Amino acid sequence: MKFFVDTADTAEIRDLAESGLVDGVTTNPSLIHKSGRKFLEVVEEICSITPGPVSAEVVALDHETMMKEAEVLRRIADNVAIKVPLTIEGLKTCKALTGDGTMVNVTLCFSANQALLAAKAGASFISPFVGRHDDIGFDGMRLIEDIRLIYDNYMFDTEILVASVRHPVHILEAAKLGADVMTAPPKVIRQLVNHPLTDKGIEGFLADWGKTGQTIG
Ligand code: E4P
Repeated sequence: MKFFVDTADTAEIRDLAESGLVDGVTTNPSLIHKSGRKFLEVVEEICSITPGPVSAEVVALDHETMMKEAEVLRRIADNVAIKVPLTIEGLKTCKALTGDGTMVNVTLCFSANQALLAAKAGASFISPFVGRHDDIGFDGMRLIEDIRLIYDNYMFDTEILVASVRHPVHILEAAKLGADVMTAPPKVIRQLVNHPLTDKGIEGFLADWGKTGQTIG
């Protein structure tokens, strides 16, 4: 499963990339706002850190203006994936952009039928938001299960990008269900490393090593 980082914080992206944990990055208008930086500048910097897909979202609601915005965004770098909302206008934009080889991430997906539409429009990625689904009392991971089944039934190439990830269990479930990609905030990716037995083990080994009186090198 590919790991995308859901952030516009370039220091975090650089740090995680050094551990090989960044296959791509997703941004959205809220994350850009949180960064306090200029949208185009921050996308350009992220694209220079990772060769993987970097999702940059259009904000227009009509196809024509979405295409104009996409044109600006895709000129930034070859690894920009244009993010469009799951609306009819977004699907039109998806079809037009993927038709000429641009990666498209269809976002704000909350049903398996919506995911089916995105695949038919040729989306490179579909982003089902599991955490926001959990927030309203629906098990978001069941959505991933349904989409996986449907995409496999018809051999769609669209990659399932599990989004709105809030905790390590979302990532575990996504991997078990065969999601292609997950995108999570840096904090959640770092949480995956933690295990009390790892910490205890290091402590024990270092204590015994100290008793040997040796050094390496
Ligand atoms: C995905 O591409 C979105 O940026 C993101 O995962 C949304 O997550 P949130 O529901 O935590 O805002």
